Amino acid sequence: MRVLIAYYSKTGTTMKVVDEVSKRINSDVIKLSSKGGTLINLMKSIFGGKVELDPVKLSPENYDLVVLATPVWGGNPVVQIKTFCKDHEFKNVAFIITRSGSDLNGPLKKLTKLTKKPVAVLEFIKETISDSETKKEKIDKFVKEINELK
Ligand SMILES: Cc1cc2nc3c(=O)[nH]c(=O)nc-3n(C[C@H](O)[C@H](O)[C@H](O)COP(=O)(O)O)c2cc1C
Repeated sequence: MRVLIAYYSKTGTTMKVVDEVSKRINSDVIKLSSKGGTLINLMKSIFGGKVELDPVKLSPENYDLVVLATPVWGGNPVVQIKTFCKDHEFKNVAFIITRSGSDLNGPLKKLTKLTKKPVAVLEFIKETISDSETKKEKIDKFVKEINELK
């Protein structure tokens, strides 16, 4: 089974989780980026609209599973991830969501609506990521759920 992780990360938290997961599931990884400052992209994350993503070399249509990894901005997945979801069709999806403490349900529902029901969800509150026991348990569970698809 071919797995791609597509992520956005501004300050590295989501990226660190993606690094650990990708090593465990042996996936390809693409980092999404775009022009535009934080404020405009925050507004677009909340109120809608798309960004022009910088070109990426890998096509998600060629993968059996696409893991979408995003921080929460203003209660939403970031606009770069939302744009990527609008631009592509995915066979199966899983989500990685990091945040500083606001509700998980809102961004989870929004990502599901843009794509489909995820086969697995991994979520972290930034401050609790340093609890390595919890982190390991959550990543183990996520990796197991993905490996069960194989
Ligand atoms: C512009 C902006 C908006 C944010 N909005 C929220 C929010 O609504 N809820 C929340 O829990 N965290 C919010 N955060 C915190 C990030 O989701 C959190 O720090 C995340 O782990 C950062 O991921 P990254 O380091 O991969 O960029 C926001 C951060 C930024 C920069």
